[in-house]
Amino acid sequence: MKSVELRQKFLDFFEEKGHKIIPSASLIPENDPTVLFTTAGMHSLVPFLLGQKHPAGKRLTSVQKCIRTNDIDDVGDDVHSTFFEMLGNWSLGDYWKEDAIKWSFKFLTEELNIPLERLAVSCFAGDDDASKDIESAKIWQDLGIKKERIKFLPKKDNWWGPAGKTGPCGPDTEMFYWKLNNVPAPETFAAEDKNWVEIWNDVFMQYVKDENGNYFEAKQKNVDTGMGLERTLAVLNGKENIYETDLFLPIIEKIEELSGKKYEENQKAFRIIADHIKASTFLLASEVEPSNLGRGYILRRLIRRAVRHGKQLGIKENFIAKIYPAVAEIYADFYP
Ligand code: SER
Repeated sequence: MKSVELRQKFLDFFEEKGHKIIPSASLIPENDPTVLFTTAGMHSLVPFLLGQKHPAGKRLTSVQKCIRTNDIDDVGDDVHSTFFEMLGNWSLGDYWKEDAIKWSFKFLTEELNIPLERLAVSCFAGDDDASKDIESAKIWQDLGIKKERIKFLPKKDNWWGPAGKTGPCGPDTEMFYWKLNNVPAPETFAAEDKNWVEIWNDVFMQYVKDENGNYFEAKQKNVDTGMGLERTLAVLNGKENIYETDLFLPIIEKIEELSGKKYEENQKAFRIIADHIKASTFLLASEVEPSNLGRGYILRRLIRRAVRHGKQLGIKENFIAKIYPAVAEIYADFYP
């Protein structure tokens, strides 16, 4: 499957379920001064998650471009990147756990034809702030996920948000795909086994966190979901990593051409260069300029790291600008 097709399938599916398609917001958050970049589809929706009426209604869906730099040291492994796209659907005080989980399941198993044997889920284990999410686990079980494939995990794993320091948040349920093709998925799900790749996350935003770190019941209960486009695309194409998909291959080929080296023998450097140049292209397109501070510093750091890895590959020329067109070629249609 191609990335274009996966984005469209997701939007069509949720549009058919009464969701309005909203465009990707800017990578620079408009109404959250506590974060540098948009890190999830919900950022631009914060006022609406807090109760303001959204002009498009109570059910929304989008493909959101995101940048997360907290995982920068993991970039180069199979599944982490600083730039990624998130496919999301939202209920603003409308449907709740049952519909959200049922639709996630339907999309995965019927639209994407992911076999049940390769799926596992996690649910919130409960603590002093919120109770154990037995309801979600029961919904998954009724849909056909075996008990052994449902794991209850604590807040550090199964809680999302707030995106900044304060705001809407809540327990989540995460969906994992067994990525190995030649080893069957174990009967029992173990979240620490990295061959289970998290591909989607349904957050049940029923709390608001304040400046003192306290959680309050929100006036409006929302659903906020986020599916990783790159990861899902990889697994659907039988790939164990996100780099061997149409969202990266043209960039990797360009690096091969410029360096005269093979991707297979230099995977980590190629992956870092490809990711960082992609992220910096989007930042430059968002009018961020390299500097010593804030967003500009992150941009400078991404470019510098790409240059450093390029030098290590033996590229002598000033190569960064030669790679930008490969990024544009992949994304120009969706992000003109
Ligand atoms: N906000 C959640 C996440 O980023 C779901 O959209 O995973």
